[in-house]
Amino acid sequence: MANQERPADICQRCAERAAGVTVRNVRDFVAGLDRRAPLIDGGERTYVNLDNAATTPPFTPALDCLADFFHWYSSVHRGSGFKSLLSTHVYERCREVVGEFVGADPDHHTVIFVQNATHALNKLAMRVCGEGGHVVVSTVMEHHSNMLPWRKAGCTVDYAAVRPGDGSLDMDDLERRVRRHAGGLCLVTVTGASNVTGIMPPIRRIARLAHRYGAMMAVDATQLVPHRPFRMGEPDDPERVDFAAFSGHKMYAPFGSGALVGPRRCFEGGTPDMVGGGTIEAVTMDEVIWTRPPESDEAGTPNVPGALALGAAIHTLRAIGMEELAAHERALTRRLLAGLTRMPGVRLFGPADPDLAEDRLGVVALEAEGLGHAKLAAALGYEWGIGVRNGCFCAQPYVRELLGISRDEMSRILHKLAAGDHATVPGLLRISLGCYNTANEVDYVLEALGALVADGPRADYVLDDRYRDYVPRPAPFDLARWAPL
Ligand SMILES: Cc1ncc(COP(=O)(O)O)c(C=O)c1O
Repeated sequence: MANQERPADICQRCAERAAGVTVRNVRDFVAGLDRRAPLIDGGERTYVNLDNAATTPPFTPALDCLADFFHWYSSVHRGSGFKSLLSTHVYERCREVVGEFVGADPDHHTVIFVQNATHALNKLAMRVCGEGGHVVVSTVMEHHSNMLPWRKAGCTVDYAAVRPGDGSLDMDDLERRVRRHAGGLCLVTVTGASNVTGIMPPIRRIARLAHRYGAMMAVDATQLVPHRPFRMGEPDDPERVDFAAFSGHKMYAPFGSGALVGPRRCFEGGTPDMVGGGTIEAVTMDEVIWTRPPESDEAGTPNVPGALALGAAIHTLRAIGMEELAAHERALTRRLLAGLTRMPGVRLFGPADPDLAEDRLGVVALEAEGLGHAKLAAALGYEWGIGVRNGCFCAQPYVRELLGISRDEMSRILHKLAAGDHATVPGLLRISLGCYNTANEVDYVLEALGALVADGPRADYVLDDRYRDYVPRPAPFDLARWAPL
């Protein structure tokens, strides 16, 4: 029985489970791919998840690893019993696994476990540029999570533009802005891959530029790390990434963990952004001595299951091989783009080249003539059993640029939105691929889109105020019947 096994056996089994996974058999190691979704006509169909940029389903080796470990799970760092010692060992081992995965140097970097990339970027903003008055260069293509923390931390943020045509980063503009702040620039922070268009900005070139002008380089690696090999780079490499932030739930490990990786010295001294248990060496009634990173930056009881899930998912990604995984996703992206570029009535945003002259992720944003993005997404779900995403994907400034909406017009729309009018929100439809998706699934979404563009949805969709989504009228099923609670 699993719960009678010794810890060493559990670790061994975790590694063995992951070791057998390849890009060809990965579907056998992803939870829930056989689940059937109810359709509007009363039938059902095996669900096709093409919303991986939002969240990926769990790898089963990570779930199994957790199931084994829970029998040994206990408090970390402060307990003295065997289970506590073991939990602490597992937690710290996961930290090493995360660091190794992104090429962190244990003598130089610290790996801080956080809840997700948003938490990581907020922490970084408060920790590194938090006394206010710092200048940060970023880009218009960022997710809100790599925009708002810098503003909240009181930084002056200068955003590099994107090109009007394909939404790619305007490197000349970025360079101008970096040069303009030379000497007084704290940080350049750029997404490693856009969650809207899949574009991968040239982070090595940007890092070299940032360092030349005396700034540090942060990468919001949330989309990049699950889909491409990523390395921080040697501490003295001018093309190094100084900070990287990412989330477990986009890497097949949905247990509320993520990581912020950066030079340890940047988290030493000063007051952590969040304080309390675990962050101190000593406290008197009027004095505090903070402990060292990473503990100083992990206030409260850590999320050990989340860390283990992330570590186990990384084992699985490594077993698949990031190069093999990337090659598979590129092939699917080519197929998807080839189909979409041939489809009448569909307009793509971002690079549409099916030959992928420049590498990009399998994240594709589009609109279809005569069909609003929200109704189109609803029809794909209710009529075809396909999960995608629509809207602005937490990147409103970027989507505004892609759609060519003026700032004034967007401001008017957003104020209407804030006042409760959700019917006229601009946005796009996004298809995003993961390592377990197949050519058949790509063909299926192409068939579905083709049919919807040609014939329109089969149902009448109305805006549901509660969920702010379009739903068919009458409602075809009661979700409560599927919910576990
Ligand atoms: C590029 C990018 N950065 C940051 C985030 C925020 O991630 P999380 O919601 O896991 O904090 C996302 C989420 O979609 C993202 O795509």
